[in-house]
Formats: sequence, C-alpha cells, structure tokens
Amino acid sequence: MGKNLVPIYLLLLLIEVSLVFAGGHNIQQVNIWPMPKYFSNGNKVLYLSNDFELRTDRSKYGDKIGILKDGFLRFKDIVTLNHVIDANFSRLDQSTFLKGINVVIQSPNDELQHGVDESYNLTIPASGKPAYAHIEANSVYGALHGLQTFSQLCAYNFKTRLVELSMVPWTIFDQPRFPYRGLLIDTSRHYLPLPVIKKVIDSMTYAKLVTIVLLSSSIECAALAHCRFAVFSFRDSFISKALGRYAQRRGVNVLAEIDVPGHAGSWGKGYPSLLPSAGCREPLDVSNEFTFQVIDGILSGALWSIILHCGLRSFHINNSIIACNVTDFSKIFKYRFVHLGGDEVDTGCWESTNRVSKWLHSHKMMGPQAYQYFVLRAQKIALSHGYEIINWEETFNKFGDKLDRKTVVHNWLGGGVAEKVTAAGLRCIVSNQDKWYLDHVDTTWDEFYMNEPLTNITNPKQQNLVIGGEVCMWGEHIDASDIEQTIWPRAAAAAERLWTPLDKLARNPRHVTRRLARFRCLLNQRGVAAAPLFGPGRIAPEEPGSCYGQ
Ligand SMILES: *[C@@H]1O[C@H](CO)[C@@H](O)[C@H](O)[C@H]1NC(C)=O
Ligand SMILES: *[C@@H]1O[C@H](CO)[C@@H](O)[C@H](O)[C@H]1NC(C)=O
Ligand SMILES: *[C@@H]1O[C@H](CO)[C@@H](O)[C@H](O)[C@H]1NC(C)=O
Ligand SMILES: *[C@@H]1O[C@H](CO)[C@@H](O)[C@H](O)[C@H]1NC(C)=O
Ligand SMILES: *[C@@H]1O[C@H](CO)[C@@H](O)[C@H](O)[C@H]1NC(C)=O
Repeated sequence: MGKNLVPIYLLLLLIEVSLVFAGGHNIQQVNIWPMPKYFSNGNKVLYLSNDFELRTDRSKYGDKIGILKDGFLRFKDIVTLNHVIDANFSRLDQSTFLKGINVVIQSPNDELQHGVDESYNLTIPASGKPAYAHIEANSVYGALHGLQTFSQLCAYNFKTRLVELSMVPWTIFDQPRFPYRGLLIDTSRHYLPLPVIKKVIDSMTYAKLVTIVLLSSSIECAALAHCRFAVFSFRDSFISKALGRYAQRRGVNVLAEIDVPGHAGSWGKGYPSLLPSAGCREPLDVSNEFTFQVIDGILSGALWSIILHCGLRSFHINNSIIACNVTDFSKIFKYRFVHLGGDEVDTGCWESTNRVSKWLHSHKMMGPQAYQYFVLRAQKIALSHGYEIINWEETFNKFGDKLDRKTVVHNWLGGGVAEKVTAAGLRCIVSNQDKWYLDHVDTTWDEFYMNEPLTNITNPKQQNLVIGGEVCMWGEHIDASDIEQTIWPRAAAAAERLWTPLDKLARNPRHVTRRLARFRCLLNQRGVAAAPLFGPGRIAPEEPGSCYGQ
C-alpha cells in the first residue's frame, strides 16, 4: 500500500502559508480566483436559505431571453452540486440566513461584444431582516461575473448540511484589467465533440475568460472541406448556431480563426484548385482568383450556408457556390474580430509550381511580396464584411507598416513583441509560446502566472493598445480524453494575470499557490478534470487523498 510520505503539495502549502503570514497580508483565507480589484470582508458566517431567490428590484435589464435567470440557476447548481441540504431550517436562527440576491443592471442591452462593460459590485451583509446580497453591474455580463465570484464564496458544509458563506460581510468592487482574455482550442487537429466544447466554455466562465477561439483550418481538416470538423460539419451543423448562443448566454465570445494562406491545405479536399498542386498543398494558390472568392464566400456567409443547410456532399461534388438558404457568417460569429492567421507561410510551393511562378513573374513579385499581397487582400475582404482583423505576428514582422490600422497583431513567437507592435500604433494580443502555449506541457503554472503582457511597455497609450492575451491549446497531442487537464489549472494562472490589477498580482507565485490549489479543487468539484498544480501540465495526482476530507 501507499508509503507514509507527506505529499509534496502539502509541503508547498505549508511553505506558502508561512510566506503569506511572513508577508503580513492576511489574505490566505480568501478563496476567489481571479483576485478581485478590491475587497473587504468580516468574520461572520451566513447560510444560504433553502429557498434562496433572485430579485431584480430597480434593474433596468428586462432579461427577455433569460440570460440572468439561467446564470442564477447555474449559480445554484454549482453551489449546491446536488449535495443534500436537509438541515432543520426551523431550528436555526433565521437571522443567520441569506434569503437571496438582488441584481441591479443598468443597461437594458444584452449585446455581447469586445469591450462590453464587465464591472460589478458585490455586497453581502452580515445580517438583515431578511438579508439579501446585492450585485450592481452596468451589463448583464458584469452581473454574471458577480454571480461567479459569489459562488466561490459559498461552500457546502458536510456537518451542518448547509451551504455556508464565510467571512461576511463582503464588499467587492471588480473589473478586468484587459478586455481580451482568450482560450484557443484547436478543433481541426482532433475532433472535439460539441459536449466537450460546451464544457470548456463553462469552465472558462469560472476563471472569467471571455473569448473562445476555434481554430477552423489546418492541413489536416477544415470547416470547409470534410466532416470531421466539430462545429460546422454536416452532422453538427444544425447545432453550430446553438453553440454560438450557448457561449453568448455565458458571456463568452466566439472567434473563428480562418488561417490563410499557410494552414489551409485541407480546403483542397473540397476545392483542389485552391492548392498550388496535389504534391504542394500549402500555402493556398495566390494566383487563383477563386481562392479569394472562397474567402469572400466564407466571410459573407454564402459558403457557410452550403455547409449549414446543404451538407458537405454537394460541396464536394460541385465547385460552385450553390444557391441555398443564406446563413450569414456574421450571424454565427457576431464578434467584432475575425482571425485570418497568416503565420508560418513558406512560399516555396508558389515558386516551385509552374503556373503560380509564372503568375508571380508576370506580377513582378517574389514569394515574400506575394505573401504580403495575399494577407492584405484577405484583410480587405474581411473589412468589407465589417470585421476587424487579427493576424499572427509574422505579418507584422514582415510588413507591419502595410497592415490595415484595424489589425490586431497576435504575438506567439516570443517575448518583446507587444512592445514593438504598440510602438507602431497597432493593437496586440499576447500569446508568447514560451509561456502561454498549453500544449507545451513542460511550462508550469507559475510560468503562466508570471507572464506579464505589459513587460517593458511604460507609455500609457501603448499600454492601452495591448488588448489582452490568449492561452493556446493546440490540438496535435490532445483530444477529448485529456483536453481539460491540459488546459486547467494553468489557464487559470493566466486568467488571473489578465483580470487582476497589476498591483494586486503576487510578485512571487508561491503566494498564490494555496488559492490556486483551492480553485483547482473547485474545478474538480464542478466536474472539470483540472490537473494538480505541481509538475508539468496534465500530471497525475501523487498520493491517495483528495481536496476534501475523506
Ligand atoms: C426541526 O426543529 C423543530 C424545532 O426545534 C422541531 O420541532 C422539529 O421536530 C424538527 N424537525 C425535524 C425533522 O427534525
Ligand atoms: C461600484 O461602486 C463604486 C463605489 O460606490 C462606484 O463608483 C461604481 O460605479 C460601482 N460600479 C458598478 C458597476 O455599479
Ligand atoms: C454543378 O453545378 C452546375 C450548375 O452550377 C450543375 O449544372 C451541375 O449539375 C452540378 N453538378 C453536380 C454534380 O451537382
Ligand atoms: C431553408 O430554411 C427553412 C427554415 O429554416 C427550411 O424550412 C427549409 O427547408 C430550408 N430550405 C433548404 C433548401 O434547405
Ligand atoms: C525588457 O527589457 C529588459 C531590459 O532592456 C530586457 O533585458 C528584457 O529582455 C526585456 N523583456 C522582454 C520580454 O522583451
């Protein structure tokens, strides 16, 4: 049987707790992740009433489609988790119960978009007749964050069989540091079933991440070309809109990454003429007008409609745009941005394919100029459909001054890029692979935590151009079996970096180990397969024992 050793994580906890005491911050009991902008608390205890209710007195938000109501029901689910709540309520002092929560929202609008007001105030009294918690928010999405924070203050007490709210009264003012807090999942390298994607979206809301990026093309598979693609395949097509709605109701934006011209070899399965040749599949054929018609077709919705309503078979048989029920791409992807990739373009196939190289010659271009031409033309198409564009940093590194001013440059190759991008007056998303690539399982949570997007950027104007960051779950080596424990808890470490004000972030990650370990347990408790904190990504637990008393 097991050896009688003290598990490493307990040692880490002891070290961390003593550090916290030594540092004089008495925040070791605060279990909120990510840490709010401001909080104060007391030391009393309240219990959730068994008929805990949602009220919306004085709220200007009508909740026509039930975003708040559903958020409240999810709140009750994750707080009670099917535990038996059967204390004898009539024996308990009624003044120790919290009767409900009153949520006041200023804006009647429920449009979810980049930069939506996510701030909220949460107050929980120590007593009342009866006692109600209060959330104030400008948008319903701020209110959902408030409910999330509230849920993390609640804990089921196995002895009293009540949901307990400790350290009341609470006063919390909160708002994110960056508006763009993203997680990329790669729906092209391995098939990810819709229930898995939905679960990832749910878990993102626990860490207040608000943008899910679906990588939609690669050499292996694509939305356009064959049935394995999760969101837009024939089989799943009728629920793809529902996925967009599912995310939106939880305050999560869906961003499509349509990576051209480099990672789109699979498009050739539907449209062979998009490729330079059968043996030379990437990048997409720059010399073929049809290439740009297809990109336009995707962004205008014309091609999407085929996928959504006609199925892929007709798509394969017929290389023309078939009249069909028109479903607007922008109705599925309402986000302001579309990601057009532009990374890792090796123009060798253009130069070595006769037809394409003749075209290059007649247009007086070499590979690098044709790459620039392709990216800029794709940008114009996206702009003409009302999108702003995100492009990977190679486009900036090679021809940054030519990019449209609405471009957001997506960093990945390493540190120091945001500094250059913002100095050039463009916006930037930080995802440096040495720190924020989740498929790098050797990168530990504390490295995720310490990756500061504003490193070496001191000018406030430039700082404002860093719209946030994204952790990337590339899919070559994950599938539905291990995606959750490869994402969590490391994505949560980045989520706090992106949410919490800089002066509230720990300078030494050991100071947050206990709180993150607790958040990881919370994820487990809510059914998310988050891995332990020690060691690399998706490590197995070391010893018997769990987060809770056994
Ligand atoms: C609950 O408490 C009340 C008051 O003490 C008592 O009369 C009642 O029998 C209790 N009910 C149960 C099910 O224990
Ligand atoms: C939260 O409270 C502060 C202080 O009273 C106030 O300035 C702020 O506008 C409030 N925020 C929201 C979202 O209501
Ligand atoms: C392809 O489309 C054309 C008209 O655009 C039509 O005449 C032809 O029958 C289609 N081919 C197949 C195999 O569906
Ligand atoms: C077009 O959409 C409507 C409503 O969604 C549906 O009833 C109809 O069958 C669709 N037509 C085709 C050709 O897919
Ligand atoms: C920030 O600046 C320092 C000093 O110039 C440099 O050593 C460091 O590499 C820079 N960090 C990044 C991420 O560029």
